[in-house]
Amino acid sequence: MSAVVCGLGGWLPPTIVTNEELCDRLDTTPEWIRSRTGIIERRVVSSGTATSDLAVEAGRRALRSAGFSTVGAVVLATTSPDRLCPASGPEVATRLGLVETPAFDVDSACSGFVYGLATGVGLISAGVSDSVLLIGAEAFSTLVNPADRTTATVFGDGAGALVLRRGRPDEPGSLDAFDLGADGEHSDLLAIPAGGSRQRSATGLGHGDEADWYLHMAGRAVYQQAVARMRDSTRRVLERTGCSASDVDVLAGHQANIRILEALAERLGLPGDRIVSNIDRVGNTLAASIPLLLDTATNGNLIPGDRVLITAFGAGLSWGSTLLTWPDLFVQPVDLSAEEETT
Ligand code: COA
Repeated sequence: MSAVVCGLGGWLPPTIVTNEELCDRLDTTPEWIRSRTGIIERRVVSSGTATSDLAVEAGRRALRSAGFSTVGAVVLATTSPDRLCPASGPEVATRLGLVETPAFDVDSACSGFVYGLATGVGLISAGVSDSVLLIGAEAFSTLVNPADRTTATVFGDGAGALVLRRGRPDEPGSLDAFDLGADGEHSDLLAIPAGGSRQRSATGLGHGDEADWYLHMAGRAVYQQAVARMRDSTRRVLERTGCSASDVDVLAGHQANIRILEALAERLGLPGDRIVSNIDRVGNTLAASIPLLLDTATNGNLIPGDRVLITAFGAGLSWGSTLLTWPDLFVQPVDLSAEEETT
């Protein structure tokens, strides 16, 4: 028994923030952001919009793509849940009409979607669920310090979702081989210090530096870790599947920085034209990054039969990779240049 990808959908909030707009308030230039990250614009939620709102839109599109009205479980990968408690997954499932369906969150930052995929495959393989809706959604702009040029330039909001069903290992879309890893030794490289039990127990509610309520990122160190971890992780997945880099048609890597992906492709011996990217339009959307990328890549860059190498890296530190043959799906990809209508 295997788990097979059978539906895909994405959604972006309508508000676009360009590099030029960021430069009005930050000590940076549009050209610096574009040349050092590949990002030209990103989407952000408007006041009052939360991660679950984005997740519901992407989830609905993925269910439609699969032709499903029910699933056996909902997994929401997010690092920006609506509230610290409870998890946002149950509310998302209910709003999708998935009554009393098991639902929970996976918090693994930018690796969250790959961790969620492995979780979904596990639920199906163990016979717990016959299908899973996996959503990656983030309103992470709410956790980014608007005055910090290192992070405010990089992150954006969005959502993407996949549907998995029980299937055969030899079917296109089958997910079998994963490599997952984590290293808590470097957890401080990407962290939001306040808000959890550590600072509350030490200083009480609301104390400490306001900047501690936002993401702190040691950009250069994270960059180096990202390239090395994704290189090793993808090599392990290729080895496990008996494939080599020349078998890979598409490198669908986490969209954190286009230079990270170029460095990764070079280290794997993959030509640059195998990289698919939408980072110029969406920035780094953490757990939403991979499904949003797959969704937009179906617009001509990803065709049935392609061997797709998926890899992600993020806070934790954490990383994960998998390889699959792209299935024939009915997808209506998000239009990166236009506002999407909510449904
Ligand atoms: N505009 C102008 N200068 C900036 C800047 C910005 N937006 N952001 C950082 N700088 C400055 C730094 O302050 C530093 O200045 P200094 O030399 O005077 O100290 C200089 O640029 C170089 O900083 P560095 O961090 O080495 O730059 P970089 O080329 O590595 O690019 C990032 C910065 C954040 C784009 C890059 O490190 C990165 O992408 N890191 C990984 C991000 C990531 O993957 N995060 C999420 C994990 S999934």
